[in-house]
Amino acid sequence: AHNKAWSGRFSEPVSDLVKRYTASVFFDQRMAEQDIRGSLAHAAMLAKQYIISEQDLADIQRGMAQILEEIRVGKFEWSLDAEDVHLNIERRLTNLVGDAGKRLHTGRSRNDQVATDIRLWLRDAIDQILALIGDFQRNVLQLAEEHAATPMPGHTHLQVAQPVTFGHHLMAYFEMLQRDAERFTDARRRTNRLPLGSAALAGTSFPIDRAFVARELGFEAVCENSLDAVSDRDFAIEFCAAVSITMTHLSRLSEELILWMSPRFGFIDLADRFCTGSSIMPQKKNPDVPELVRGKTGRVNGHLVALLTLMKGQPLAYNKDNQEDKEPLFDAADTMIDTLRIYADMILGIRVKADAMRAALALGFATATDLADYLVKKGLPFRDAHEAVALAVRAAETRGCDLADFTLDELRVAMAHVNGAGERLDSDIAGVLTIEGSLGARNHIGGTAPEQVRAAIVRARKRLA
Ligand code: ARG
Repeated sequence: AHNKAWSGRFSEPVSDLVKRYTASVFFDQRMAEQDIRGSLAHAAMLAKQYIISEQDLADIQRGMAQILEEIRVGKFEWSLDAEDVHLNIERRLTNLVGDAGKRLHTGRSRNDQVATDIRLWLRDAIDQILALIGDFQRNVLQLAEEHAATPMPGHTHLQVAQPVTFGHHLMAYFEMLQRDAERFTDARRRTNRLPLGSAALAGTSFPIDRAFVARELGFEAVCENSLDAVSDRDFAIEFCAAVSITMTHLSRLSEELILWMSPRFGFIDLADRFCTGSSIMPQKKNPDVPELVRGKTGRVNGHLVALLTLMKGQPLAYNKDNQEDKEPLFDAADTMIDTLRIYADMILGIRVKADAMRAALALGFATATDLADYLVKKGLPFRDAHEAVALAVRAAETRGCDLADFTLDELRVAMAHVNGAGERLDSDIAGVLTIEGSLGARNHIGGTAPEQVRAAIVRARKRLA
């Protein structure tokens, strides 16, 4: 015998394989609490509008309270026969309270019900993510403040470019995560709309009060078009895009942590709790956590593409394809939440090896631009200054020393035949070629001067508050 919620029209039951293939209960049951909240708001509205009786409402409330408890303590019996979270709960409700349970679905479809559940679920996930981004950023600020004046080589093309401070470098990630938080906040606005009342696709013939349900569930407004409300999942796609971008930022940071921890760089050490050893090489300490963040970024990018592809061929309105939206969405949220949790702690587990950072700066002619800028300030056209300094770098390379190791006369000789470059050098050049001189010179908003980095941190604290 087949006793599905929709079985009346059917002359034969589905096979076990089809049942399993079409069921979603094993992954959508995690929206159970949202499903119950939505049902309670719907039932309250039905009673208020005299569509069901106050007694029905009381029965539904009593039954749902028990179901919620059964789910929370793990005693609820999820059944494949009831297909999904919605029908499982409705069936149990009817077992518990009889006809009132059968009246709950009046003026509603699983199509607007599931869209509501997902939005409620996602809204909570976004709030959790926003709080975790804040935690991560606060810890970034703490480390950045400690290292507002710690010099390290800034790279372009992974070649030493110019000195920056480690604090400045970290603050780049603060900015990225700040934009990520904005993206989640923005996605939340469009998620926070109520589909209920759209019923299957066209609305319902009952005198419903959608605004009431929206208020009950904390939605900012109702979805304006019933076809759109039951069928589109762009809010989920948008969320996944925000996850992908955030993970991409954390993946770049991971790549840097991995490089910096390699003995070739030796800039940092990561706390042992984020690393693992090798089963064969006793000396190994591997940065597994950052590597996994990098790897899981690929995974969430896959989820984004999965949702886009899921949607692209669907005619209006609801199609069962949409049942496939949940696993990628849930996994994207789970991955984002765990990654942020781990990262907030990992940031504070970074031990900075300032000496190694400074030593690396001495090797890459990191103050060459400062020398060129100096010559320009003494009246030499920039292109000539560039060439003069390039000659000096070549001379230093031949000698195996840094620019700062040259005496004034040696520097003059090195750049002698470029448009009188050498004559423009004075004894004040010494301060310009030092790391501190180079850092301090970039003293404007957004620059790496320690004074500016500290000011940026102060502003960042205000933005977070
Ligand atoms: N489990 C379904 C989903 O995830 C609920 C909606 C089903 N509606 C339907 N008409 N089959 O989308």
